[in-house]
Amino acid sequence: MALKERDEFSGQLTTGHEWNGIKELNTPIPRLLWVFLISTTVFALVWTLLMPSWPGINGYFRGLLGVDQQQAVRASLAEAEAERAAWSTRLVSEDFETLAADASIVSLVRQAGPPLFADNCAACHGLKATGNAGYPNIAQAPMMWGDEPDTIAETIRVGINAGHPESRLGQMLAFGRDQMLGGEEISQLADYLMELHGGPVLEAEARAGAETLFADNCAGCHGSDGKGMADTGTPNLTDPFWTYGGDRLTVRQSIYNGRQGTMPAWEGRLSPAQIRLLALYVLDLRGALP
Ligand code: HEC
Ligand code: HEC
Repeated sequence: MALKERDEFSGQLTTGHEWNGIKELNTPIPRLLWVFLISTTVFALVWTLLMPSWPGINGYFRGLLGVDQQQAVRASLAEAEAERAAWSTRLVSEDFETLAADASIVSLVRQAGPPLFADNCAACHGLKATGNAGYPNIAQAPMMWGDEPDTIAETIRVGINAGHPESRLGQMLAFGRDQMLGGEEISQLADYLMELHGGPVLEAEARAGAETLFADNCAGCHGSDGKGMADTGTPNLTDPFWTYGGDRLTVRQSIYNGRQGTMPAWEGRLSPAQIRLLALYVLDLRGALP
């Protein structure tokens, strides 16, 4: 070891080592770094004593504070389960009027409704429930089967033209294919429906003819005013909403070939509470919840 030597430029001591004329300064470790190293080491030691830490052969050191994350998770799961059970019981045991008036139920519906609807219903009715060709808009259009909450829940439970033994049955007859009406008459009816929707105005005689055809063939299901009847599950033919399409060709096809849309039954696939929650969610989309 060479003698201690002070570097003339920096004023620091050198280590005495020298490589080809280059000498190494003996710079002390900054105090702040020492403080940092010591305090983090002390913290780590104390922390491993307080918290669950060191692995052993039959388990692990539980820590002096007795903190247990698994227990905390189990407790919060049990809490969530109990909360869900409470909601479910309320949803199936209270009537819709009471449920719709309860702000906590409404906020549950707004939280749990969208994912439930997206998973089960949106494929056909669309994410916002506004429908797709062949699938009705259930957010805005008048309900074919009625828009009372119990009615909607029942429609969801048993489906329409579905395999369920209590399924609702809604059959638009194939007036052309089954030769109940001729092509000319179907055209007259299509023109009449077009006129109702702002299409070309018919001559008085043509309109009178179409009105008679409608009264004789259609009113029994769609109502004499064409506005639909809940007990036959028929759509309102005078509003701007169409399930299948409101252009003349599609309307003609509806009359010629008939329509029997299938809405699956959800009993057995969704719980009664989920079905009632969805009924409330649909009502909320329709702006019917406070
Ligand atoms: C496989 C496609 C499909 C799925 C999935 C589906 N629906 Fe439907 N839904 C239909 C069709 C088609 C109709 C119309 C049937 C008809 O009028 O003949 C309908 C009708 C309805 C009606 C009655 C509308 C009225 O005017 O009265 C409601 C309410 C409804 N669906 C809610 C739901 C809900 C809630 C879900 C999710 C649990 C759902 N649907 C899932 C196809 C579907
Ligand atoms: C036996 C009852 C019944 C009779 C009679 C009937 N309809 Fe319908 N109609 C229905 C039902 C139910 C639907 C809904 C079918 C669906 O959504 O799948 C429907 C749907 C329609 C649609 C499609 C509406 C849309 O939103 O796309 C048109 C158009 C229509 N009917 C016109 C007529 C005309 C015109 C007549 C008379 C010639 C007639 N219907 C007679 C039951 C009937």
